[in-house]
Amino acid sequence: MATFSSSSSSLAAKRLEGKVALITGGSRGIGECTARLFAQHGAKVIIADIEDQLGASVCNDIGHDTACFIHCDVTVEDDIKNAVDLAVSKYGKLDIMFNNAGLINKARPLVDSEKSEFEKVMSVIVTGSYLGTKHAARVMIPAKSGSIIATASVASVIGGSGTHAYTAAKHALVGLTKSAAVELGQFGVRVNCVSPYAVATKLLSGFTEFDQLDDDGFEKLMSLHANLKGHVLKAEDVAHAVLYLASDEAKYVSGHNLLVDGGFTIVNPSLLALDPAALPK
Ligand SMILES: NC(=O)c1ccc[n+]([C@@H]2O[C@H](COP(=O)([O-])OP(=O)(O)OC[C@H]3O[C@@H](n4cnc5c(N)ncnc54)[C@H](O)[C@@H]3O)[C@@H](O)[C@H]2O)c1
Repeated sequence: MATFSSSSSSLAAKRLEGKVALITGGSRGIGECTARLFAQHGAKVIIADIEDQLGASVCNDIGHDTACFIHCDVTVEDDIKNAVDLAVSKYGKLDIMFNNAGLINKARPLVDSEKSEFEKVMSVIVTGSYLGTKHAARVMIPAKSGSIIATASVASVIGGSGTHAYTAAKHALVGLTKSAAVELGQFGVRVNCVSPYAVATKLLSGFTEFDQLDDDGFEKLMSLHANLKGHVLKAEDVAHAVLYLASDEAKYVSGHNLLVDGGFTIVNPSLLALDPAALPK
């Protein structure tokens, strides 16, 4: 008969006690929220971001015995290498790598889009996560354990919810997750991603169509189009999904894309709107 050990219940209280986490894009939004949640759950946290002042103030707020900041452009391999090395030199190891940094370009018709914008999005989301995964693996393989997580998106499984570059990049992230999970499984290293629906963060300033909306207006609009009603998706909800994947509670979960979308991507709304009366007579 299955039983729960007392250690399982203590995990529920502080689920990352003794662990060391590196979070890219942790200066604000989903990354910041995850950094705060990880710290509450007993992890030492390193925030790696290009927003130095914001990141330093988040660490200040969390407390310098628990969190520290390092400037890191995820597209620069030396920056990622230094961030991973800081985890090892400061805290002795790296247990959790959260490849979360991201951005979106302005939506334009394909024919008017710029190659440079496409490459920038691919570079931060795909190359950045590749470098984060590579350097995390470098220190996790000898330790024979670790959890690598990336922030993908609903745009990782459907078209039309982000720009062409963003959609391509987030689909690629799922491929990278699966590929790395296959190679790193033999070393006890798990690789997963989370895919949120819309959260009111600074990222959305990339969408010109939402220029007129404040956070509240954006959330109302997104809730209108959501599948699951009665709750508005917040950064905290995504952070809790990441916490699960980072914790030992997910110790047999690898290669998974955890959708935090209230079922948004499994619905085809055109079928819900089927109306026989609309048929031409
Ligand atoms: N907000 C949403 O609706 C939503 C939905 C699905 C997925 N996501 C994903 O969540 C992740 C976090 O985004 P967010 O919504 O919190 O937005 P955000 O803009 O608040 O945070 C993004 C963070 O990434 C950092 N960043 C950007 N480029 C970087 C680089 N080159 N190197 C290091 N850091 C860099 C930014 O400085 C910022 O701190 C992104 O990967 C995004 O694609 C967001």
